Amino acid sequence: MSDHNLRTYDTILDLLPSAENPTPIVRLRHIPGFQHAQVYAKLEWYNPFGAVKDRVAANLVQDAEERGEDLENLVEPTSGNTGIGLVMVANARKYGFSATLSKQIPLEKRTALRLFGTDLVELDDDLCPMPGQPEGAMEKAAELGRRPGWTQLNQYANPANPDAHYRTTGPEVWRQTEGRVTHFVASLGTCGTITGAGRFLKEQNPDVQVIGVHPALGHDIPGVRSRRALALTEFFTPEAYDSILEITDDEAYGLCRRLHLEESIIAGPSCGLALAGALKAIPDEPGVVAVVVFPDNAFKYLSSFRRHLPDLFPPEADEVAVPANPFAEHLEAAFAFAKKGPDVIDVHQAKLLLDAGVTLIDVRNPPEVARVQIPEAIKLPLPDLSQGSLDGLPADKDAPIVTICAAGTRSLYALLLLKALGYRDVKSVDGGMGAWVEAGLPAR
Ligand SMILES: Cc1ncc(COP(=O)(O)O)c(C=O)c1O
Repeated sequence: MSDHNLRTYDTILDLLPSAENPTPIVRLRHIPGFQHAQVYAKLEWYNPFGAVKDRVAANLVQDAEERGEDLENLVEPTSGNTGIGLVMVANARKYGFSATLSKQIPLEKRTALRLFGTDLVELDDDLCPMPGQPEGAMEKAAELGRRPGWTQLNQYANPANPDAHYRTTGPEVWRQTEGRVTHFVASLGTCGTITGAGRFLKEQNPDVQVIGVHPALGHDIPGVRSRRALALTEFFTPEAYDSILEITDDEAYGLCRRLHLEESIIAGPSCGLALAGALKAIPDEPGVVAVVVFPDNAFKYLSSFRRHLPDLFPPEADEVAVPANPFAEHLEAAFAFAKKGPDVIDVHQAKLLLDAGVTLIDVRNPPEVARVQIPEAIKLPLPDLSQGSLDGLPADKDAPIVTICAAGTRSLYALLLLKALGYRDVKSVDGGMGAWVEAGLPAR
């Protein structure tokens, strides 16, 4: 049996927070500079997978299971933390997990997602993904979620998101402050935190002030959304909040640094954002007890901190001698020559060869293939090929082969690999599947 007092647990999932097992709240002693008001930070990195979104990930999955959904593979657009929570819950439950996300998400988060077992689909999207962008993270996840055996739990529209906070964050804050909380402050992303916990707290005491904080347009704070993106966010219900403040990147990152130095709190960027808003909104009056949600710590955002605190990271600090691969330039030259060489063909030449029965090899990854493919093509992802797999390839090294990928780069590497493996007649399709589809050639 798990025991919160002893902090002895039967499974990692029992560590998920609840009123009996809350994430800590810690009084900020120095930064607020208030005479009367007490300001507490609720440290969400004490969740089992490291951030506020673990609550949501667990509740999304539990809710779908309770509704009897037959879960097999999950897919979700994520700024990272929902994905990290979901992949860990999925691992515990033996489900597959794919995440669609913007390449602007910090490398640390993308690395963590991959490391923990996520199949990543990285896209050229905004840091705040918005609905309605055909190549964006949200649309891609919806598209993948429609395939048989796949489910998108959809943190942006699934009531299990705010419900997680209604059932846990809100009751925790109420209990931890012994009902004395007067102000609840949260940064705004999907708005699950503010909407769910805010509703619970107002039900206990309608005078509790619920305050939302968001960044400016074009911001660089992962996990939160500008006012324009919030307007398209289902759980953004401004009528239920008492005030909404906008904070600049400089204010947020500056306050993070103070949290590190003055409060010894390892705050991540959206903590600085929320606290900056809180300090503008909270009156310094007797009886004021404010709780500010600190969604995540600094470690997944070190590259963001480097950008925003340039004085701390002068360019020389980057000049660590990384031993270069002395042969890389030769490989690059081989690639450049091959690109201009006679073995690169256009999609129409490729179609003629395909019609003549030539073997076509698609070297993209399975999620890309699932979106659009040429059914006759042999699927052999480039990483498998470079590890020596020849699955499905003709044994005859004189047999003609055509390689294809998304745009023509990976297929050219595949061509070089196949030639190195002894295949004598290999061609690569310039422009890849993008050009194939644009030319109206058959694909499904
Ligand atoms: C680091 C970080 N801060 C803030 C938020 C915002 O929380 P919510 O989506 O509940 O509004 C998120 C959500 O993903 C987050 O990951």
